[in-house]
Amino acid sequence: MKLAVIGTGYVGLVSGVCFSDLGNEVVCVDKMSNKIEMLNRGEVPIYEPGLKELIKKNKDVGRLHFTTDLLGAVQQADIVFIAVGTPSLPDGQADLSYIEQAAEEIGKSLNGFKIIVTKSTVPVGTNEKIQEKIAMQSLFPFEIASVPEFLREGTAVQDTLLPDRIIIGTSSEMARKRLIELHKPLTDNIVVTDVRSAEMIKYASNAFLATKISFINEIANICEKVGADVDQVAFGMGQDKRIGSSFLKAGIGYGGSCFPKDTQALIQIAGQMDYDFKLLKSVVEVNRDQRFNVIKKLESILNHLQGKTIAVWGLAFKPETDDVRDAPAIEIISSLLERGAKVKAYDPIATDNFTRHFNMDGVEYCDKAHEAASDADALCILTEWKEFKDISPAIIESWLKRPNLIDGRNIYSEAELAGTELNYYSVGRPAMNKGVKERSPILLP
Ligand code: UDX
Repeated sequence: MKLAVIGTGYVGLVSGVCFSDLGNEVVCVDKMSNKIEMLNRGEVPIYEPGLKELIKKNKDVGRLHFTTDLLGAVQQADIVFIAVGTPSLPDGQADLSYIEQAAEEIGKSLNGFKIIVTKSTVPVGTNEKIQEKIAMQSLFPFEIASVPEFLREGTAVQDTLLPDRIIIGTSSEMARKRLIELHKPLTDNIVVTDVRSAEMIKYASNAFLATKISFINEIANICEKVGADVDQVAFGMGQDKRIGSSFLKAGIGYGGSCFPKDTQALIQIAGQMDYDFKLLKSVVEVNRDQRFNVIKKLESILNHLQGKTIAVWGLAFKPETDDVRDAPAIEIISSLLERGAKVKAYDPIATDNFTRHFNMDGVEYCDKAHEAASDADALCILTEWKEFKDISPAIIESWLKRPNLIDGRNIYSEAELAGTELNYYSVGRPAMNKGVKERSPILLP
């Protein structure tokens, strides 16, 4: 099939590339000419395992194209995907201006029958507005559908090629048939719904996953008080198929481009309908508070943070991505600076992105994990990069000035800490405070 994908962010780019890999002719469109030039040179604007290779493979065989020419892309296509961003407005509502602009331009470009599919996460009813907008611009027939995207950053290619399910929301029999045909090679689990339900499925899914995370984080906070171990609790809970074991990893809360934005947007959508979504409001509040537990733990060990050197490992909101949007590191580092601490930060790949987006005076960005940790009064692990897990606690202890380790992602086990003098604080597990204020001098043989 011939496809046009409008928007080359995470969703648009990965979807377009994967559709071309299935044998479709795909033209990806973006207004940002520098992004398109990069992609045409074979460079990828986001860090996503496997994506670069797939782009090269499908560009080389001439099935994948990148352009700023929306009109040309739409005119050659049978199916047009809208995958532009829907960022948050200051009040949490989804900003639909990019969607509206794309719909208008698609309408102006129509030259015959097309199926127009929205992949962006949009409030319920938006596809009907898109339909009206396009119809105002064109007399050519078209059908609309909502096919929300559930890919995760870091595993986006795999999630797109091997999805748990595909949701196709449309009232058009013809659109349904064509979209089933297009997605059939990906999975047999295709769920057909009406448009509004498809729009809601995306928000409800993300809100539910965010709820699981905030739930287990609250259980973790209680575990700390009663002396239980949240990892064991989550494992035990997860054995019940009705609960499931995923998204029960306690930590310092969720970040990223979707959960914070979509939970806020769903609260707003409910509010506009005079419904107070109390549960989801609490999920958001719990998530906001959870990251500050790192600061509380630091203060409980060091009394105050004024003049202390705090090492931070992990700026990305999760491993295998350089994305720092709504990363817990932002607020944690700001709070450390506010309290007069000196911060030394390290991330395997997200430092450039972090410094480009946030101006945090007083942070020393380091090129190596070891540089950040050396001579620090405490180390905080904020992202569970494999690189960190591969460094043993005994080595970390030897780098620090004071043996204080706050593990915000529970990456170390009790066995790995045995034999160290580290004062180790993780999330929802008993603290191991050895009461050691300064690291013992290393005795040379
Ligand atoms: C999420 C959804 O998973 C995806 O379906 C949707 O399309 C976009 O939003 P993503 O933001 O890429 O994907 O990351 P995800 O792996 O879901 O993690 C989100 C956040 O939750 C991260 O900050 C992660 O650290 C946190 N998380 C996840 C936990 O704290 N505990 C968990 O058990 C799982």
